[in-house]
Amino acid sequence: MSADSRPTSAFHAENMSPSMTGKLVGALDGQAASAGVRRLRAWAHAGLAVRPGERAVDVGAGTGSEVQVLAAAVGPDGEAVGVEPNAGLRAVAEQRAAEAGSAARFVDGDALALPLGDAEVDVVWCERVFQHLAEPGRAAAEIARVLRPGGRVALLDTDWATTILHPGEPAVVAALADCALAAAANPYAGRRLLEDLAGAGLVVDDIGSQALIQDHRAVTWPIVRMVGEEALRRELISAEQRDALYADLEAAAAQGALHMSVTMFGVIAHRPV
Ligand SMILES: C[S@@+](CC[C@H](N)C(=O)[O-])C[C@H]1O[C@@H](n2cnc3c(N)ncnc32)[C@H](O)[C@@H]1O
Repeated sequence: MSADSRPTSAFHAENMSPSMTGKLVGALDGQAASAGVRRLRAWAHAGLAVRPGERAVDVGAGTGSEVQVLAAAVGPDGEAVGVEPNAGLRAVAEQRAAEAGSAARFVDGDALALPLGDAEVDVVWCERVFQHLAEPGRAAAEIARVLRPGGRVALLDTDWATTILHPGEPAVVAALADCALAAAANPYAGRRLLEDLAGAGLVVDDIGSQALIQDHRAVTWPIVRMVGEEALRRELISAEQRDALYADLEAAAAQGALHMSVTMFGVIAHRPV
């Protein structure tokens, strides 16, 4: 695949070691277990209302959990395929589907050049992929291309500018949030979903949201520290401010008073007939 159709991304197999893949699977499993992700997915599946016999595609399928849900909905007369460019994630998805006795299948491919013909899909699912794409409008155009007239899409993504970290000195928290923004190719993915879909000629039917919340029980300290160190390295905060932030957060966690969250949005849309 050409450099043009396969944008560089930390997710692509050639850039990712097995241990990184393992960490990513752990992070995706943790997020999948969170109430916010479970609620947003349940809302999106209800909105799509996938029927037996339909052909469904999950773009950027990750560990493949939602392809298994789609496979169960389309049944033996339908087809559910996950497009996943990362070979390590694809292997995990294939193994999990086989263990679950699911008919879900997985193929290599890129959101910017889907390995599918025009108008041959009834349903597209695409979750937390657009945040990794510098040109999300091109991926939306690909989704519109493969959907048949009347076909539906569930497009879900995070908006990293909604990051909350509490408690902490506001300027220090804002510096860490800036670092989180800089880490994503498309950090405002969540708020851009409507314009991406409208730009591709798709009609929006519903919009929903849930926060991905980490409280004192779920907080991933290594990520907090990684972002804190990055803010220090970029001289956005001083070492004293960093230490005070860690102390504030740890004290809050000990009291069950820590709040970390980021908001995810979801849109259900269809291709006009
Ligand atoms: C945050 S994970 C989300 C995985 C899964 N959709 C979920 O919600 O659990 C991002 C996924 O996007 C995939 N991805 C990244 N760049 C992509 C691209 N250009 N085309 C297709 N998938 C891509 C990654 O390999 C990874 O599976």
